[in-house]
Amino acid sequence: MGMKKIIIIALIVTVAVGLGVKFWPKHPTTFNVANKTQGQASNKTNTPASTFDKTQYSTTDPSSIWVVVNKQHPLIPKNYVPADLVVPAVPLRVPGNESMQVRQVTAIALQTMFAAAKAQGINLMLSSGYRSFAYQTALYNGYVKTQGQAVADTQSARPGFSEHQTGLAADIEPTSEQCDVDPCFGNLPEGKWLAANAYKYGFIIRYTPGNQAITGYVAEAWHVRYVGTALSNEMRSTGIETLEQFFNISGGPNY
Ligand code: DAL
Ligand code: ZN
Repeated sequence: MGMKKIIIIALIVTVAVGLGVKFWPKHPTTFNVANKTQGQASNKTNTPASTFDKTQYSTTDPSSIWVVVNKQHPLIPKNYVPADLVVPAVPLRVPGNESMQVRQVTAIALQTMFAAAKAQGINLMLSSGYRSFAYQTALYNGYVKTQGQAVADTQSARPGFSEHQTGLAADIEPTSEQCDVDPCFGNLPEGKWLAANAYKYGFIIRYTPGNQAITGYVAEAWHVRYVGTALSNEMRSTGIETLEQFFNISGGPNY
């Protein structure tokens, strides 16, 4: 190779390298990747993926603590009877009555909650817990007789459609029996205490104001439903009031 050729090749290489430096973006791949990674990282910071597992328990098995019972979702079977009903060691409105029973998990949670309330000067009593298909039939028919079916359906579940039949629901009242199963319960110290504290013991207020189109019922400040503390805490911290919204399950006022 002559000196001339070497000089020409050297010139071409020099020009090519020079052009490369000028037009090639600086670390293009690294830049993009870094950008994307930063973007994803900040997304994660802004909207953290929930770690709550909504499939942990069944929402259809009547013995599941997450079962959703409403006008679109009856108990299956409709004559379901819980296997572990017990009478909780709390003040009872009608001692000896069938409705003074609840599931074992509910009983333990009620006892803990009632004891905590009592320590703060709030004296609670169980007004109604488990109700069998037959019991709910008589109760619902009584409402229909006195108020007519349309009004009854906003306040009382038809047999086979009440979560009282799961043994996981409880109506609470003061030991004074003031405002028993009445909206005025929500304005009593006992009702306010229940609204503020029930979640700590695994309960939710199942029928809250403004949610009749979702739950199918007018507000019931006295009706708590045991779902376990994992779910009651999650619903409290996310501000989701109904099981229907939390699990994206249909409900509403119609059967
Ligand atoms: N009062 C509630 C809706 C029930 O009857 O189960
Ligand atoms: Zn109730």
